[in-house]
Amino acid sequence: MALPFFHSDKKPILARCRDDHATKMRLRYAPYYHAIGQQAGTSIQLDGREMIMLSSNDYLGLSFHPKVIEAGREAVAKWGTSTTGARPSNGSRTYHLELEEKLAAFLGREACHVHAAGYLSCMSSIATFAQKGDVVFADKNLHSCLWDGIRLSMATVERFSHNNPADLKEVMASVGGSAPRMVAVEGVYSMEGHICRLPEIAKVADDHGAFLVVDDAHGFGVLGRQGRGTVDHFGLNDKVDLICGSLSKSLASTGGFVSGTHEAIEYLRTNSKQTIFSAALAPSQAAAAMKALEISQNEPEYFERLWSNTRKYRAMLLGLGLDIWESETPAVPIVLGSRERVYLFWKALMEKGVFTVMSIAPAVPPGKDLIRTAVSAMHSDEQLERIAEAMAYALKKL
Ligand SMILES: Cc1ncc(COP(=O)(O)O)c(C=O)c1O
Repeated sequence: MALPFFHSDKKPILARCRDDHATKMRLRYAPYYHAIGQQAGTSIQLDGREMIMLSSNDYLGLSFHPKVIEAGREAVAKWGTSTTGARPSNGSRTYHLELEEKLAAFLGREACHVHAAGYLSCMSSIATFAQKGDVVFADKNLHSCLWDGIRLSMATVERFSHNNPADLKEVMASVGGSAPRMVAVEGVYSMEGHICRLPEIAKVADDHGAFLVVDDAHGFGVLGRQGRGTVDHFGLNDKVDLICGSLSKSLASTGGFVSGTHEAIEYLRTNSKQTIFSAALAPSQAAAAMKALEISQNEPEYFERLWSNTRKYRAMLLGLGLDIWESETPAVPIVLGSRERVYLFWKALMEKGVFTVMSIAPAVPPGKDLIRTAVSAMHSDEQLERIAEAMAYALKKL
């Protein structure tokens, strides 16, 4: 039922919604919330036009794999559509335990817990373990879910410059006292595509007795042996206390995980509000992730294709003289430096049938306004050629 119009004049919060500048701009330029009408892998249809998806996080390209689709279908038939409850009460199923055991074994960790969203997993990796009086040392470019976790924890926060172990060391040394310490980083930074300088960062954390949390949402499936992630890539499993991540990227599902020692995961199950008061991961999503995990281990061609596409794509962008912020991974930003240039470039790509996403300050540091792209194992050679033509066209529009 529509609210009577005079209500909005009396309620400051409704007035705030009506007058919000960012919302007005979003509705005027319509850069976000495009509803895709049809999809077959990296081919999508938007407003009846065929386009190439170049901003999905489906790194291994498994979201349309017939075995993954079938696993999701079978799980719904067996378990229904939802657990309609949280894990400590009526929401736990044997398939949760199976997925947790498989993820823990894959990552070489003692235990794991899965949630209905990666956001919940990563937020609770901080919020559950840090508390008032502790100090969290946070990379300046962390994902929003980790900042939310820090805020919820009520711990003191100390920022260090992005991916800079020397600065972390300095900031650590400048903080006195014996309060418990935590260091929070991403394995692969989602916006920049940078690989965390984990060996040096883990050493600083270790020297100060700090609990080390790595959000590997974009390293899982992409780095390390068979895609075991950033921690495996550097062989640092014994130096990292928690690895959290998402099932919505390489594992072609939705949901998230936290992995660590038995003690840490049992502590999370007792104390994490995001775990205790949120409905459990749905059957189809758990089954899809489990099947994608199995495929990623048994069919290495997806991993290989991801990296050969990444090399081709990066070389093409660098050949055009575009700034990719030294991305080393399939998450590749195109830095254009101002919101106007980003908008022109994005629009030109859309015109040429390439779907990307704009990211502008304050979501990125000032002057780093960018187009966020990600390449997948599923992009065909022909699609990569069409993308190259579209990039050259967009460049001319600046
Ligand atoms: C670094 C990072 N952590 C966590 C998340 C949250 O994952 P999900 O989208 O599965 O909730 C994301 C997703 O964008 C991410 O990029």
